[in-house]
Parts: sequence; structure tokens; C-alpha cells
Amino acid sequence: MLESLINKVDIRNKIDIQEEGKIMTVNLLDLANMLSVSVDLMEDGVYHHGQRVAYIAYRIFQELYPGEDAFNLVLASFLHDIGIDSDEKKKEARNFIVDEIILSRHTVDGEKLLSKVDLLEDTRSIVKHHHTQFKDIIKLNGEIVPIEAQIIALADRIEVLIDPHQYILDQTVDIISKIKKFSGTMFNPKIVDCFIELAEKEAFWLDIDNEYAHFRLWQKKFGRKSIAYEKDIRQFAILCGDIVDRKSPFTSNHSKRVASISRKLGQTLFMSDKDVFLLEIAGELHDIGKLSIPTSILHKNGGLTAEEYRIIKQHSYYTYYLIDRLNTMDMVRDWAAFHHERLDGSGYPFHLKGNQLDLGSRVMAVADIVTALSEDRPYRNRLEKNQIMKILWDMVKNNKIDGDVVRSLESNYDFIVLDIN
Ligand SMILES: [Fe+2]
Ligand SMILES: [Fe+2]
Ligand SMILES: [Fe+2]
Repeated sequence: MLESLINKVDIRNKIDIQEEGKIMTVNLLDLANMLSVSVDLMEDGVYHHGQRVAYIAYRIFQELYPGEDAFNLVLASFLHDIGIDSDEKKKEARNFIVDEIILSRHTVDGEKLLSKVDLLEDTRSIVKHHHTQFKDIIKLNGEIVPIEAQIIALADRIEVLIDPHQYILDQTVDIISKIKKFSGTMFNPKIVDCFIELAEKEAFWLDIDNEYAHFRLWQKKFGRKSIAYEKDIRQFAILCGDIVDRKSPFTSNHSKRVASISRKLGQTLFMSDKDVFLLEIAGELHDIGKLSIPTSILHKNGGLTAEEYRIIKQHSYYTYYLIDRLNTMDMVRDWAAFHHERLDGSGYPFHLKGNQLDLGSRVMAVADIVTALSEDRPYRNRLEKNQIMKILWDMVKNNKIDGDVVRSLESNYDFIVLDIN
């Protein structure tokens, strides 16, 4: 299976190089991992559900099918809950028995989101069925429920049974007995038996909490094997933007518009093709850290309190560290994460100054402001060109944003802002 994936990637890569003459590489697993961490972000840090499910699922798979390729299983484990679009649903999914509607919505939504990325084609049916109960498989009229989905179904419920506030080895007896009760109904008995054998080993449980063990394992097994190229990176970035945008009901295409506006600003400023591409990717990713912001704040229909505004400010901080995980995209990381920085150092969260903000960061800041001002908000209508330009020029005067970028925007306003492509 892995071989076929590599071949697929190689063919696509050749096409991309011929068509676009550029090479851009990112590890596919790193991309999936970044997305997994971003959907596990909470207001007060990261809860590594996707990572831990991936580890449990991998260990079971390896016992059942030694030597077989587990790449899609790990990818799907990272991505299995990307369909969850609110904190309430995220919390609900942590109960052992979950509301049916929430379950079926996020699996179907997850499958739909994954269809945007060609390289993730083989994970779609796994994600779709990660909560399909074993007893219901027979009712599916021949629709295949991949064994990977059945393994993730169990790994996912094992993970939610672990209480993070209690010592893990004190919990194993209770977890095993609970899982056993649902063998043959909720879970495939063959997979449960395999888990029970593994569960005798303390190391199996201790590893679940050991991020270093996971990192080493993925590095060893899949380290340099699967690389995504330009078209794939773009598809992935669009997927990230969509996940952010569907969590923010008032700005449902904000990431897409920031990507489009920054790309066109880059073009009108005669930046290189490669930089224009990176601006587009940074635009899609710039608010990915917003997944750490509680839905109650993102959905708030009115002004924010001082405390809520402090929480909002962490979003571009998380954007920085999420993209940093990709290793090969430092420029995208900076351009995306610095979009709230201002030339006089009054921005957030790093308070960088003009000499630390290159052209890409300056473009992204303007693109984000112009996108926000030209969007309808619950408390105001979208602003017109003359109102927007006045605000921007005032900001230039106050040494907040770059005058050359604003001038280029003004001269090409219709192309950059009004034409949505
Ligand atoms: Fe789920
Ligand atoms: Fe889950
Ligand atoms: Fe932002």
C-alpha cells in the first residue's frame, strides 16, 4: 500500500515539476500531524487525542498484521476528528457513549473535508467509519468498513476512557473490563482480544502518554517516505483554511479571501512566483491557531471583553508553532503568524518591529485587515473602498502597516479585493 502511495506521489510530482517548474516538499505525515494537533488545541494548551489514538491504533494493527503497511491507519488516526467543528462537540465526543447525531455528523463531515486532498483519498472511508459499531457493519449492504476504521473505533474509545488526572497504570483494569463488555457489539472481538494482550504490558500504557516515543516511532517507520508537493500542499492548506472557517460562522470564507488577496498583492508587488505561492499558503494557514479559541468567543455576536480579547491574541502564537512543525516551511510560518504584528511594535503576540517584518509579513498584515474590513460582521456591514482606504492610510501614517503595500492595493483594488478568484 505504501509503495503504491509513493508511486502516486512520484507521478504527481513529475507532473508538477513539468507544469510549474518548482519543487516544494513537505512530509505528508508532518502535514497530517500539524492538522491533528490543531484540531486538538484547547484554550489552555493541546490535548493530544489524535496522536494518542494513532499510537494505540498502530500498536494494535502491528500485532494483528505484522509487517503490513500502517501508513493510512496513522494518517487517518491523526485526522479522524477533523469533522468536529465546535468545543461542545469536542467535549461531548470525550464521553464513552456519545450522542448519535454528533457521532454521525462529524464522521460524514470529516470524510467530506478529506475529499479535498487527493493524497488523503485512502483515509476517507476509514474516517467515515471510525464510529461504526461492529454489530452494525452487517447492516451496511456490503459497504466495506476498513479494518483500520474498526481499529481506530476501539483505539478512540480506549483513549477517551483514560483520565488525564489519574495515574495511568491505576486505570488499566477498569478500562480493560469496560472495553470487554462491548466486545462483539461496539467493537470487533478479534481487535479487542489483541488489545487485551497488549494491555498486559506496562510499556503499552506508559507509551500512550510519551510524546517522544510516538515521535521516534513515526520517524523510524515513515520518516522520509512520503512527501507532498506543490499541488498537494495547496490542497492541504485549503483544507486547513476550511476547517478554521467552518468554526467561525461570521467569516465563513475569511482564510480563502486572505489567501487570494495576499497572493494578488504579491503579484502586483512583483514578488517571485514561489513567494506568491507561499503567500497563498500562508493566507490559508494564517488563522489556524484560532482552533484554540473557544467557540463561545468566535461565535460572540458583539464586542469582546478584555479577557476574551487576551485569549484571541494567542491564535497567531499557535499558528507559529503549528506551522513550525512542518520544518520546511519557515517563511510560510513567519508570514502567517506575523499577520497581527505592526511596524511600530504595537502588534501581537511577538511585538516585532519594522526591521523584523519582511515584505511577506507586511503583505499578510494588509491582506488580513482589508479582508476583515470588507466582510459583513454581525455588528457592522462591510465597508466600501473609500472607507477601507482611509483606515489603511491612517494606519500607514501611524507607522502600523507598509505604505508601499497599501499603495499597490489602492492602484489594483478591483483586481485584488473585488474579484474573488
Ligand atoms: Fe470521532
Ligand atoms: Fe476521536
Ligand atoms: Fe488573525
